[in-house]
Amino acid sequence: MIYRKAVFKDVEEIHKLVNAHADDGMMLPRSRNVLYETLRDMVLAEEDGRIIGVGALHLVWDELAEIRALAVSSDKARQGIGRSIVEKLTNEARELGVKTLFTLTYRDDFFCKLGFNVLPKEKLPHKVWKECINCPKFPNCDEIAMIKDL
Ligand SMILES: CC(C)(COP(=O)(O)OP(=O)(O)OC[C@H]1O[C@@H](n2cnc3c(N)ncnc32)[C@H](O)[C@@H]1OP(=O)(O)O)[C@@H](O)C(=O)NCCC(=O)NCCS
Repeated sequence: MIYRKAVFKDVEEIHKLVNAHADDGMMLPRSRNVLYETLRDMVLAEEDGRIIGVGALHLVWDELAEIRALAVSSDKARQGIGRSIVEKLTNEARELGVKTLFTLTYRDDFFCKLGFNVLPKEKLPHKVWKECINCPKFPNCDEIAMIKDL
């Protein structure tokens, strides 16, 4: 198993992985357009040439970044891959000088284990909501906001 940054040839596999979980209602769907535009945000877990995990660090504002698009193949769940991806993204965030990491998720139980705390959504800076108008759920967001101070 290796962890590495995403490159263009990975987009189709990332698209499949993320949207399989989105079809199950566990995360928001991602278009290929968004995946191409945010490719540099992504860290992948790869095993025998197959992408089995993905997660993205998205810079939002001064010292503020989001963990998003986190997905692990169902057949590889609970093996520490999600945790490793979040830890790698967190290290990247620290190197960049990020002081606050947040995520919007349905998996508060998972993020709790990684040191994130639930926060009322209204407490997140307004800049966070800029991209929400593109979300199929807008304006009825039912995700849980979670935050971690670095
Ligand atoms: C959520 C997800 C990324 C977790 O990845 P994973 O590789 O299975 O998680 P890990 O094995 O790294 O788990 C880390 C810790 O969280 C716990 N955990 C993982 N999934 C959990 C769940 N569904 N409920 C409760 N705890 C969970 C693990 O038991 C582990 O705890 P431990 O260290 O005390 O043993 C993965 O299940 C997934 O892709 N889900 C569908 C998409 C999704 O919900 N994405 C979240 C962002 S919206």
